[in-house]
Order: sequence, then structure tokens, then C-alpha cells
Amino acid sequence: MADANAGAETAAAAGPAEEELAAAGLLLEVDGAVATVTLNRPERRNAMTFATWRGLAAIGRSLPDGVRVVVLRGAGPSFSAGIDLSMFSGGGEGFADGSDAAATDRFIAELQEGYTWLRRPEIVTVAAVHGHVIGGGFQLALACDIRVAADDVKFCMKEPALGLVPDLTGTKPLVEIVGIGRALELCLTARTVHAEEAARLGLAETVVPRDGLDTAVAELVASLLAVNPGAAVATKRLLWEAAENTLEQQCAAERREQIGRLRELFGT
Ligand code: ACO
Repeated sequence: MADANAGAETAAAAGPAEEELAAAGLLLEVDGAVATVTLNRPERRNAMTFATWRGLAAIGRSLPDGVRVVVLRGAGPSFSAGIDLSMFSGGGEGFADGSDAAATDRFIAELQEGYTWLRRPEIVTVAAVHGHVIGGGFQLALACDIRVAADDVKFCMKEPALGLVPDLTGTKPLVEIVGIGRALELCLTARTVHAEEAARLGLAETVVPRDGLDTAVAELVASLLAVNPGAAVATKRLLWEAAENTLEQQCAAERREQIGRLRELFGT
């Protein structure tokens, strides 16, 4: 039987080594214009360590130029159970305990880099989520442009229940998607949001049966790749700017982007 991944290269040439990523619980496959990042510690429900977040940042820094779509997915029964709880008891390599505010600020900023690259206009990022999507895992899904969820999905922003705040870039997209009241309610109760509610709140663009997740994501990726690459980049840039801009600024941004498109289309 043919290997479904035949032709896929593992890891980008100048990117992090496959073994380095494996130790961080990550698998990167680049197949032409599509990169697939798999959270790959299923025996720990893809719990994430500092190495996972640094590995994600390294993937972002070294993504080949030709990649247009990045899919994030989780191996095994869940997308991710969030931070590896053993990091609290063991401290974890390079753990910052807040005693030095400047050092802790730098430490967290470095981890956040594992998430912020997912907003770059040159790529469209898709989170394919199923099972538990907790804490840092929920924030990873929120860092993506589009979320496709299986009907067994369970989102939970667990950090406040552990005495922490969500600090992996998730608070802004959460508020933008569900509004301040619902974001407060979800975070401060740390309750679980199941598929039907997730779709209603806009936490998932699409909900599909669990066994149809891969197919749904593949179809979405094919549709995304069918669009003119330059138009895709310009449109993503434009749409992400929209929330911050006044109408006047946004109209100007539309004109600016369209001039670029027209020049490319007509070679002027
Ligand atoms: N950190 C470390 N190990 C974990 C984590 C985690 N976050 N989540 C699961 N595991 C381990 C379990 O300890 C267990 O290990 P074992 O087989 O050696 O006993 C294994 O993964 C499987 O976990 P189960 O609990 O048996 O799996 P189940 O499917 O029943 O439950 C669930 C999954 C709901 C995710 C549960 O494991 C859980 O609640 N995990 C903790 C979630 C959490 O609080 N995360 C922190 C969020 S805050 C943040 O991310 C900043």
C-alpha cells in the first residue's frame, strides 16, 4: 500500500534537526507548499515543555520560502494537554520563577515566539484540533488563522485554575473571537467548551466528525492553495489589520494592497 506521506521531506534543510524536534515532542513535515507540524508526545497527551515552544519558534524561523500553508495537529487522543505539569515540580530546564522580573520577561517572550510567527502574512495557519485542547494547547490553536475541530474537541483555558494567567499570546485572539464577557467566563471558570458551543462561539470555523478531520483539513488546504499566492498574502495582511485600524485607515490599506495586486497582475 502506498505511504500517504510519500514525497514528504522531513524538516527543512536549514531548520532544526529532526532529533532536536523529536526531543521537543515535535514532528515537522514539509511537502511542497504545505508544512505540517505534529505535536508528537501522545503518551503524555502532547503536553508541552519549554523545548516544545522553542522548537516551534525554530520551525517558524526556518520555514522554507515556498511554504504557504502550515497545519498544526496532535498525535494520539488529544491535540494537547497544555504545559507539561512536571515542569512545575521539577522546575524544568531554564525555568524562570519571577524573582528576576526582567529575566522572566525575556524568558516568556522567547516562549511566545513559538506562537507569534503563525500570524505572518506569508503563510496561512490551520489548527486541526481534536480531543483535549488545554491551556498552552488552546493558545496554540488560537494563534492560528483557522481552526478545524473534530466533534470530540474539548477546549479549556486552565491557567487561572493553576494560579497562572494565559501568557502564550492567547488572551488577545480569545477576546477578539468570543468577546470580553465570554473570555472572562471561560478563563475564570476554566470550564470545558465542547464542539457545538465552540462552533457557535467561533472558536472553530468548522466542526467535523473525528474520523473526517484529516480529510476536512486536506480539502481546506487544497482550497487555500488554489488562491493566487500574492492575493492570499495581501488579504491576510489586510484582514488582520482591520481590527486595529479606523475605517479610514483600513480603506487606505485596501487601496495600497490593491495597487500592489494590480501591478503584479498587469506587470506595471
Ligand atoms: N503534563 C504532563 N503529563 C500529562 C499531562 C500534562 N499536562 N496531561 C496528561 N499527562 C500524562 C498523564 O499523567 C498520563 O501519564 P501516565 O500514563 O504516566 O499516567 C498520560 O499523560 C495520559 O493522561 P491521562 O490523564 O491518563 O489521559 P486522559 O485521556 O484520561 O486525560 C487529560 C487527558 C484530560 C488531558 C488529563 O491528562 C489532564 O487533565 N491533564 C492535565 C491538563 C492540565 O492541567 N494542563 C495544564 C494546562 S495550563 C497550561 O497549559 C499553561
